[in-house]
This record gives sequence, C-alpha cells and structure tokens, in this order.
Amino acid sequence: MEISETYVALGKTDVMVSRIGLGAWAWGDRLFWSYGRGYDIEDVRAVFKLSLEEGINWVDTAESYGSGQSERLLGGFNADSYLPVVIATKFMPFPWRLGKGTFRKALRRSLDRLRLHSLDLYQIHWPLPPISVETWADALADAVQAKLVRAVGVSNYNEQQMRAANAVLAKRGVPLASNQVLFNLLDRKIERNGLLKACQELNIGLIAYSPISQGVLTGKYTPDRPIPGVRGRRYPRAYLARVQPLVQRMREIGQQHDGKTPAQVAINWLICKGVLPIPGAKNARQAQENAGALGWRLSDDEVADLELKADQV
Ligand SMILES: NC(=O)c1ccc[n+]([C@@H]2O[C@H](COP(=O)([O-])OP(=O)(O)OC[C@H]3O[C@@H](n4cnc5c(N)ncnc54)[C@H](OP(=O)(O)O)[C@@H]3O)[C@@H](O)[C@H]2O)c1
Repeated sequence: MEISETYVALGKTDVMVSRIGLGAWAWGDRLFWSYGRGYDIEDVRAVFKLSLEEGINWVDTAESYGSGQSERLLGGFNADSYLPVVIATKFMPFPWRLGKGTFRKALRRSLDRLRLHSLDLYQIHWPLPPISVETWADALADAVQAKLVRAVGVSNYNEQQMRAANAVLAKRGVPLASNQVLFNLLDRKIERNGLLKACQELNIGLIAYSPISQGVLTGKYTPDRPIPGVRGRRYPRAYLARVQPLVQRMREIGQQHDGKTPAQVAINWLICKGVLPIPGAKNARQAQENAGALGWRLSDDEVADLELKADQV
C-alpha cells in the first residue's frame, strides 16, 4: 500500500480512500451498541456529514449491521450528500446460504438498501463454513464481471484463507483489494501471525477494525466507570485496570503533539503501521475527535514506546 497523507489506492485497485474510513456498525444496531439510547438518526447523520467534510471519503457497513438498518441509513445520507463517498459493505455467509444464488440475492438487497447500482467494495464478512472460501471468491469475481461491484475484499480471513481467495480471484483477473481484521494497540495478533506481512507482500489493503478497541483506548472506561451493556462483558474491570498505564502513556505522547487525545493516538498508531483504520462514532463530537488523527504522525520512537507499554497490558 502506497503511503501518503491524503488518499491511497486500496490494494491493487483504483479505489482511492482516505487514510481513515468511517465504521457504521453502530448505526441502527440496538443489541450491541444500544442505538436509540443516547444517540439516534440525527447523531449518525451528523457523524456522516462531519466525517466527509473532514476529508474522510469512505464508509464501511455490512448487511448484518442493525439487520440492514446501517445500510439503509447510509443509503439515505449518501443520497442527500453532495460529496462523493466510497461505500463498502459485506456479505455474511450464514450457514443456510448454500450457493452463489444466495450471494447474488444478498448483493441485490444490499444495493437496494444503499440505493446504489454498484458498490465500491464488497467483502465476505467471515470465512464461515460450510461453503468454501474459494466458492465465495468466485462469486465475488462474478459480481465484478457483472459490474455490480468495483472492488472485492474479505474480512476475518487468516493468511491461508486470504491466499486461497486471492489465488481464485487472480485466475479470474480480479485483484483482492483488502482484508478487514481486528487490529489495534491492544490486539496485535496479525503482526505476529504473518497476516500483516502477507498483505504487504501481496499488496492487499489491510483494513483495521475496532481501532480504538471499542472505546477502551479512549481512556473514558476505567474500573470505576466500566463499559455498560453487552459490550462490557468483553472488557471486565480487571482488564480495564491493566489498560490504564498504556492510556496514561498515550495521553503523555498526545500532549507532545498539540494535545492529541488517546483516541487520536490510537488511530494514528495504525496509520503509522500503513493500515487503514475505520473508527466508529456515535456523535459529531466523537467523529470530530477521530478525524483529528489525520494530518500528523507519531515518531518511530513513540510508536515503539507505545508498543512496549501495550505489551505489558
Ligand atoms: N469485519 C468485522 O468483523 C468487523 C467487526 C467489528 C467492527 N467492524 C467495523 O469496524 C468499525 C469500527 O469498529 P468498532 O465499532 O467495533 O470499534 P471502534 O471504532 O474501536 O469503537 C467505536 C466506539 O467507541 C466509542 N468512541 C468512538 N470514538 C470515540 C471518541 N472519540 N471518544 C470517545 N468514545 C469514542 C463509541 O462508543 P461509546 O460512545 O458507546 O463508547 C463508538 O461506537 C465498525 O463500525 C465496523 O464498520 C468490522
């Protein structure tokens, strides 16, 4: 992936994206993110508008987010917007989806909800059985051939699965644009298991989801103020206690960059790694803060320092 401060090509495709994208899982999702309690359609509309104005030109959603509600909201906002947006969504290979026919139907439904004739990026959400990653890769190539999709990606694929999908697509003359996986300061598995290296070798864009660890890396959640609801179960109090020294170091480093916040430092660390973070935001204030991760860089020493602290969590 070419590194520049403004827009980069997604893998070997001509889809140009800003160094940060916008995650839209929380739009319309009541179960995990509590949509409707504390934030609503007007808040996420403001997130969309503000992010675009700040130079973020792409949004990541999925057919499964809010059971289609995230795609519907995004489709509406996009229709009302004068700024061009790169739209990425995902197909979920539910175990009852047993062939390419189900794939085509799901793609049509996503296009309808998004009010589009073609997608910029269509991703396979998870490498779930029983259908092989090769079959879904072939379906992705069909979608490109039918001009329903500009570029194709995968998500949550390990190195072997990604290489298998890449090989099928290559035979059809279609580049694998991206692999979207969990990557943040608190979860650096892909640096150790070879996936990040394989993406660099094959020029496949790495999209980093949960870049601020679902709010944990903002520093606002502590053992005394734990995360509420279903999400809280993932991050128990003892874990939040262990994270605090890292957050403190992020604050100190942020201070050396005109008072950048821990969230901005967390996102910037990913930019320094050459990957594409897609932070989610529930309101304009959060979106504004996250956009402030653009336009500056941590030094190599700060990156190393943060990793040392993160290893101690
Ligand atoms: N492919 C996949 O399997 C997969 C999985 C997960 C996510 N994703 C994608 O990645 C995107 C981002 O990941 P994510 O939503 O899991 O986690 P995230 O971006 O790390 O965290 C988002 C949450 O953190 C809080 N937050 C965000 N900015 C903040 C700020 N500046 N200050 C304080 N709090 C802030 C908000 O929740 P609160 O205010 O409630 O704390 C927000 O909903 C998703 O929207 C989705 O597009 C993909």
